[in-house]
Amino acid sequence: MRDNSKVFAIRLLLVLVGIIALVVIGRKIMLPKSWGEYGYYRGDYINEEANRNMKYGTNDTCKSCHEEVYQLKAHSVHKNLSCEMCHAPIVEHVKEGKKIAKMPSVQNKEQIALCLSCHQEGIGRPKNFPLIDHQKHLRDQKVKPTHSCDQCHTVHDPMENITHARKITTLKEVVDER
Ligand code: HEC
Ligand code: HEC
Ligand code: HEC
Ligand code: HEC
Repeated sequence: MRDNSKVFAIRLLLVLVGIIALVVIGRKIMLPKSWGEYGYYRGDYINEEANRNMKYGTNDTCKSCHEEVYQLKAHSVHKNLSCEMCHAPIVEHVKEGKKIAKMPSVQNKEQIALCLSCHQEGIGRPKNFPLIDHQKHLRDQKVKPTHSCDQCHTVHDPMENITHARKITTLKEVVDER
């Protein structure tokens, strides 16, 4: 009886020691070298992130080559939008100060979808933001529903033509509305 329990105790101990050894050795083999340098994560991760190539610029990175569009937008209702939000990251267009590929600028259906992604009325949309009902908006203007937004709105200064049109119609009450 007594002998048996001793044997069991020793076996149990061996199994426990085995598990501990496995964990200690396994940890050594499997944990990355820089683990724990700064905390419970891979220290090298910080360098890897810091060395990733920049993908997006700012609106200022477009300015040197597109001064006119830059200025138009900077003084418009769209002044707070990022160029790259409607186009694409600058790395796809410019490398080492030279144009390397066409920058997407959307037309027709895609353009309507882009504008409506911010301006379509809907549940939960902010109240103090200029929203439209797409179909109704075009019906109100008496044009076909396939009309794309830039046929009336300059994309970089959406109220430009509209304000201008109001001015030259000289309808005082319409001009004063704004
Ligand atoms: C609200 C979305 C939007 C923003 C923001 C925007 N663009 Fe555009 N852009 C467009 C669309 C749509 C077109 C193509 C349709 C058109 O020109 O009517 C276009 C066309 C262009 C073109 C080619 C035609 C032209 O007008 O010269 C250039 C260059 C351009 N954009 C540069 C810029 C730059 C630079 C900025 C930031 C200063 C910017 N865009 C911001 C939507 C946008
Ligand atoms: C190193 C100069 C340079 C920079 C910086 C630059 N572009 Fe351009 N881009 C060009 C040239 C050159 C063209 C072709 C001629 C033109 O339309 O003015 C062009 C054309 C475009 C077009 C029309 C489509 C095309 O590719 O022909 C769009 C849209 C555009 N750029 C957007 C942008 C945006 C947005 C930025 C900033 C994120 C930007 N560009 C930064 C040089 C530049
Ligand atoms: C990323 C969101 C976004 C996209 C995409 C966008 N806009 Fe805007 N738009 C805005 C913001 C923000 C304002 C300024 C709202 C304000 O002043 O409260 C604005 C203002 C406007 C206004 C002026 C409304 C007014 O009564 O003052 C018009 C018109 C307009 N946008 C048309 C367009 C058109 C056309 C397109 C597509 C080429 C477009 N927008 C794409 C965010 C967007
Ligand atoms: C046929 C010309 C025309 C077309 C096409 C057009 N609009 Fe307009 N839009 C106008 C006019 C004119 C106004 C000013 C109307 C007013 O103040 O009642 C306006 C006003 C707006 C406003 C401001 C609404 C507000 O209450 O402040 C937004 C946003 C707008 N348009 C977005 C768009 C978008 C997005 C598209 C494309 C789906 C588009 N528009 C297509 C002529 C047009």
